[in-house]
Amino acid sequence: MLDDRVVVVTGAARGLGLAIARRLGEDGASIALCDIDVRRGEDSAEKLRADGIAARYVRVDLADADSVDEMAVSVTADGPIYGLVNNAALADGVGGRAVHELAVDEWDRVLDVNLRGTFLVSRALIPSIIEHSDERGGGRVISIGSDAALYGSPKLTHYIASKGGVSALTRTMARDLGPMGSPSTRCRPV
Ligand SMILES: NC(=O)c1ccc[n+]([C@@H]2O[C@H](COP(=O)([O-])OP(=O)(O)OC[C@H]3O[C@@H](n4cnc5c(N)ncnc54)[C@H](O)[C@@H]3O)[C@@H](O)[C@H]2O)c1
Repeated sequence: MLDDRVVVVTGAARGLGLAIARRLGEDGASIALCDIDVRRGEDSAEKLRADGIAARYVRVDLADADSVDEMAVSVTADGPIYGLVNNAALADGVGGRAVHELAVDEWDRVLDVNLRGTFLVSRALIPSIIEHSDERGGGRVISIGSDAALYGSPKLTHYIASKGGVSALTRTMARDLGPMGSPSTRCRPV
């Protein structure tokens, strides 16, 4: 049971992020739903609250380092956080071009959100998780990758590369932080 521990879930306005937020909330966590989509984020937080889950929406754009820092200030305002689920990604409607057809701008757009954004959010929130870990013993960082990064997928170069990067980033964060007991040293591709 997570009994009021604060967990940040990125990309939680809809989809898998929202389902993860709901499940953690049902286990007692207080959820910060962090997403670029203000309307859906507010709606989803309200629906969770209506179901008795402690939830609030915090806007963030993972492509913008200042926005990530502002989100970190907001979610840590009431004390250290316990967990982070790096879920947000440009995952929908990004495919359709083979590697030699892909514009550099499009590569940058997807890598900026999916990989650089995951780094930015982790970098901004891990100090708070470490602080929490001292007080209450342990914290968690979970990053959502993709099994497709293990074998490739046609016409999804940038997305697949970003997900391979997220797995590598998460493993190396575990190397840095595992010895402190936070985040979990376990790292399983999803
Ligand atoms: N759905 C699948 O079959 C599947 C399979 C493998 C991995 N995944 C991974 O699971 C995660 C969730 O997938 P999903 O299908 O729920 O995706 P989705 O597209 O339904 O939701 C993604 C969420 O991320 C948010 N987001 C996008 N850009 C953002 C930004 N710049 N800043 C902040 N938030 C932003 C969106 O607003 C949205 O709420 C992703 O990391 C995806 O790569 C999904």
